[in-house]
Amino acid sequence: MANILITGSSGFIGSFLVEEALKKDFTVYAGVRKSSSRAYLQDPGIRFAEIDFTEKDRIVEFLLEHKKAGVSFDYIIHNAGLTKAKKKEDFYRVNCTFTRNFVEALSEAGCIPLKFVYISSLAAYGPGDPVSMKPVMLDDTPKPVDEYGRSKLEAEKYLTSLTDFPWLIIRPSGVYGPREKDYFVYFQTISRGMEPYIGFRPQILTFIYVRDLVRLILEAMVSGIKRKAYFVTDGKHYDSREFAEITKKHLKKKTLKITLPLGLVGGIARAMEKIFGLGGKMPTLNTDKFNIMKSTNWTCQVDELQKDFNFRADYDLDKGVKEALEWYKKERWL
Ligand SMILES: NC(=O)c1ccc[n+]([C@@H]2O[C@H](COP(=O)([O-])OP(=O)(O)OC[C@H]3O[C@@H](n4cnc5c(N)ncnc54)[C@H](OP(=O)(O)O)[C@@H]3O)[C@@H](O)[C@H]2O)c1
Repeated sequence: MANILITGSSGFIGSFLVEEALKKDFTVYAGVRKSSSRAYLQDPGIRFAEIDFTEKDRIVEFLLEHKKAGVSFDYIIHNAGLTKAKKKEDFYRVNCTFTRNFVEALSEAGCIPLKFVYISSLAAYGPGDPVSMKPVMLDDTPKPVDEYGRSKLEAEKYLTSLTDFPWLIIRPSGVYGPREKDYFVYFQTISRGMEPYIGFRPQILTFIYVRDLVRLILEAMVSGIKRKAYFVTDGKHYDSREFAEITKKHLKKKTLKITLPLGLVGGIARAMEKIFGLGGKMPTLNTDKFNIMKSTNWTCQVDELQKDFNFRADYDLDKGVKEALEWYKKERWL
């Protein structure tokens, strides 16, 4: 059985990666912090690995301790990351510096795995052109529109500069499913009878259901392919109104449509950022969030997934939202 180390195991995607890896008979080392919740990491087969990424030397120590005990990590999925931050610097510290520390420590400790999968994001490339509505292509020049995306891109640039390191980059679009907390806020809003829109032009969105994503990640990881990057979606794209219709259908809810003009939301975001900025904090509605919400083209090139891994999503938005909502209801989140 091959050993796999999955960082950020306590989070939404990480906990599903752990489940999928256990199902595939890997010996799973769940990378967590001391403070991490283990609520979704209850399988007795899981081995925990507490890693502190703040200093390279501590990671080297961690790797050498395991090496001494006869444990080497055949595969690593570096999934730990910050998707929200109080300060912009935090994105760069966690998403880039920690990734660099990790890779340098692997080299220094002589523990380079067969594959190092980095979970990046479509945000690293940003949205596609809003006029032509052409999907973002793998060979396009990245144009991230928020600090999160820029930090993911910086980590990617570091990895892709390594010509003899076995990196593989996965850039999911919007990931949803059980345990997820951001799309959940949207589902909750619809469930409360409100259907919010920002701007009068619909957004074209792309999604991937978490179970499909983790299946793809593990397939890509064991494949012979390295030093390549992929966008990941379910292969379809959805109008923002369709997303609402699907959600309403499964929640059996009627809603009141509320459309806020772009200029108004942009103004509020800028004002909030100024006010909160005085206290060194980032408000929930900020200019980065506004840039994401006003972008209308979140489509991207995914044909390589089928070509290289014969990947087809089992879940489209209708099937995935239905299953996710059932979970939220069962767990009494909704
Ligand atoms: N969700 C999406 O739609 C989406 C889309 C594209 C890409 N991604 C990427 O997928 C990855 C997982 O995202 P997610 O949605 O599952 O987020 P999540 O639920 O917030 O999980 C993030 C994980 O990263 C860990 N982490 C955060 N800061 C850390 C630090 N300083 N040191 C060590 N570990 C740290 C967290 O540990 P704690 O539990 O201890 O905080 C948690 O396990 C991220 O890299 C994200 O950028 C997500």
